[in-house]
Amino acid sequence: MPHYDVPTGHRPFSHSSEEEVARILDFYGLKWLYEPRSFPLRWDGDRVTEMFSPDFYLPELDLYLELTTMKQSLVTAKNRKLRRLRELYPDVNIRLLYRRDIYRLLAKYGFGPLVHGELPLVEKVLFTRPEIEKRVAELGAAITKDYAGQEIVLIGVLRGVFCFMADLMRYVPLSMTVDFMSVSYYSGAGIQGGVHVTKGPDVEMQGKHVVLVEDIVDTGMTLHYLLAYLGERNPASVKVCALLDKRVRRIADVQVDYVGFAPPDEFLVGYGLDYLGRYRNLPFIGILRPKEAQESGE
Ligand code: IMP
Ligand code: MG
Repeated sequence: MPHYDVPTGHRPFSHSSEEEVARILDFYGLKWLYEPRSFPLRWDGDRVTEMFSPDFYLPELDLYLELTTMKQSLVTAKNRKLRRLRELYPDVNIRLLYRRDIYRLLAKYGFGPLVHGELPLVEKVLFTRPEIEKRVAELGAAITKDYAGQEIVLIGVLRGVFCFMADLMRYVPLSMTVDFMSVSYYSGAGIQGGVHVTKGPDVEMQGKHVVLVEDIVDTGMTLHYLLAYLGERNPASVKVCALLDKRVRRIADVQVDYVGFAPPDEFLVGYGLDYLGRYRNLPFIGILRPKEAQESGE
């Protein structure tokens, strides 16, 4: 599912740092336009004698970006132009940006990397923080509508689900209890492979309407096992809500009632999802760089 349109057909970049910033903007899923507008700054009669074309415009943030190097002479000239532009066009939002500053700026809008000055080992952002937030709110609204007037039990499958669960439950203003369960996978030689429950839920489920909350359904094998496990506790009903549904990889034929996103067949990290225990704290969902994914045997 494409999450944004990569602008094409723009003028060639005049500097490699511009291309780098464009890549970073793409990485964070932010739409951008390259030098889309020129602002006249000075006139000689009717004739424009000085113009200024900021490097980028980010429509989602309504913000122009002008990149600059550390060279002081250039910075001084640019600052003068920017001052003039702000005087003439007070409604225009523009920022002068040192290359190293782009990370800090993006972080302010919730798009930046968490690691100081370096990009995480993520190839690209698939779902941004605002996109996730919007979708989780929609899922919460759907559950709220379907279970109106009923008491529900939300069961989350640790650990990947904790971000999603925490956000989702706050969009479901119904009477509910919340609990978690843990699963593990045997894969060692001599032990039969497969999923098993290491911690079951403590809440009473008999006669209750259960919503099983999952971060991601991949082959569907985990979910298949969990549905059988929960079924033994005689709930009145069980429905499944998964933030991510990698349908193309499905092996076990399981029904997911509420789906956040149907991502492509890639290894995903962030917003609770991990790779070898890391990356859970990324505020977005991204695709892990193939090299590292290969090392995991994925
Ligand atoms: P399944 O049994 O193949 O459906 O796998 C489900 C579990 O595998 C999920 O609950 C995750 O813990 C893990 N998983 C599957 N795909 C991914 C991924 O892309 N990133 C992180 N974890 C994943
Ligand atoms: Mg899981």
